[in-house]
Amino acid sequence: KILILDFGSQVTQLIARRVREAHVYSEIHPYDMDEAAIRAFAPKGIILSGGPSSVTEGDTPRAPSVVFELGVPVLGICYGMQTMAQQLGGGVASSNVREFGYAEVRAHGHTRLLDGIEDSRTAEGHGMLKVWMSHGDKVERMPEGFKLMASTPSCPVAGIADEARGFYGVQFHPEVTHTVKGTAILQRFVLDICAARADWEMGSYIDEAIEKIRAQVGNEHVILGLSGGVDSSVAAALLHRAIGDQLTCVFVDHGLLRLNEAEQVMETFGSHLGVKVIHVDASDAFLGKLAGVTDPEAKRKIIGREFVEVFKAEASKLTDAKWLAQGTIYPDVIESAGHGKKGAATIKSHHNVGGLPEDLQLKLVEPLRELFKDEVRELGVKLGLPPAMVYRHPFPGPGLGVRILGEVKRDFADLLRRADAIFIETLREMVEPSSGKTWYDLTSQAFAVFLPVKSVGVMGDGRTYEYVVALRAVQTQDFMTAHWAHLPHELLGHVSNRIINEVRGINRVVYDISGKPPATIEWE
Ligand code: XMP
Repeated sequence: KILILDFGSQVTQLIARRVREAHVYSEIHPYDMDEAAIRAFAPKGIILSGGPSSVTEGDTPRAPSVVFELGVPVLGICYGMQTMAQQLGGGVASSNVREFGYAEVRAHGHTRLLDGIEDSRTAEGHGMLKVWMSHGDKVERMPEGFKLMASTPSCPVAGIADEARGFYGVQFHPEVTHTVKGTAILQRFVLDICAARADWEMGSYIDEAIEKIRAQVGNEHVILGLSGGVDSSVAAALLHRAIGDQLTCVFVDHGLLRLNEAEQVMETFGSHLGVKVIHVDASDAFLGKLAGVTDPEAKRKIIGREFVEVFKAEASKLTDAKWLAQGTIYPDVIESAGHGKKGAATIKSHHNVGGLPEDLQLKLVEPLRELFKDEVRELGVKLGLPPAMVYRHPFPGPGLGVRILGEVKRDFADLLRRADAIFIETLREMVEPSSGKTWYDLTSQAFAVFLPVKSVGVMGDGRTYEYVVALRAVQTQDFMTAHWAHLPHELLGHVSNRIINEVRGINRVVYDISGKPPATIEWE
């Protein structure tokens, strides 16, 4: 197993993720882990992460000296390389130029770490690597026993190696995907240089996570706000596996969910997995509070506040509960992490379900906070959740509340739910021939929007005067920017026909062809 010591980089979890991808077990610990614990861990190798501090200042983090005395390989990344260089007798200087972004490093000589790993080759036969750099300080003098492994024009010492001891340092970040061969470099380190066993899989993660949860909560009771979304669902399934009936889920139904969604959640968790779920039908309260409100921000605030109120009221009935579980995942942790943190232990907690109550006096358990979305999905399937639920498009917390423009009314929600279900059903049915995938899988998010305007139509011999539905489908990596999906006209035509024929009250369907930016994905 591999020990990762965290010096507070925003991307330390990516190191763990790359190591997991090599099927090697690893754990992240704060840089000041104590010596006895490090020895007891018995790592096959150690990785020192990057970090925001400068080793040129006196009271900044250092690696415990035992790291260099165990006789196992060590890889220092960015700050990790700098502290290693300085602690072993080299010199680090602060520099007034910060290097941030893409760089090309040139490999020097042969090292076990980089041999045969390159993106291109110079005329003289040196390997070149496209990498991601982010640093201010530089190693100026290598410690004794080290040789130069890589350099860039502005960073002459971009990589160092002491092959005899298996100590390597890289100034760039192999863990981020911008470093094209980064995964290969980390795999070379853990598999070849450390000779760590490649026997880790998601199945073992479940066992580890269960152990941790049991150790953390003991025999106390836990409550979890189940939304039906992927993260809270997987968290619920994992916690249930770990502590069974000590878990109670509270599912707040605000009346703005998709067609049959509440039933599906109750069926999957309640009947199928045997999880204790309290289904709170709060639709009257939510819709009551929303009556007459048309401003999008005001609507969001009302829904968020009401959600907290309803959850709190339920939670206060469960007097046994000592813990609040949340489906916080690693990207949420990064987003909410402040600057200037000194180590992983001080990362502050992120409340991802619309800001759950802090005054509940409950301790927080977040079993997914080390995982990325795709890993959470893999875990969900392993835990027995239906793949269709785990691979569902994202759905916003305020639900249909932001998809019914202006005032939210129950009849509007009912119409929208049916139109939306027809759209989604069709996307799941129709396959794009060249990829063999359904249009649901080819889009990142798709839904219908209710427009409370009436237009004239004709049906049979009669005139109609009814509402409009807009269809929205986007493709995106990160939801920060998005393209509208080029859905086939036949698909759009089929959906439009079905909606107009089957959903009485809608006589016109339009397709949204706006990108983000300037439009957002949701309409409100
Ligand atoms: P926009 O509309 O800002 O949406 O382009 C980007 C992504 O975020 C989702 N979204 C939300 N998710 N609570 C959520 O949990 C919210 O209040 C919320 N608002 C937007 C949206 O569905 C899209 O995936």
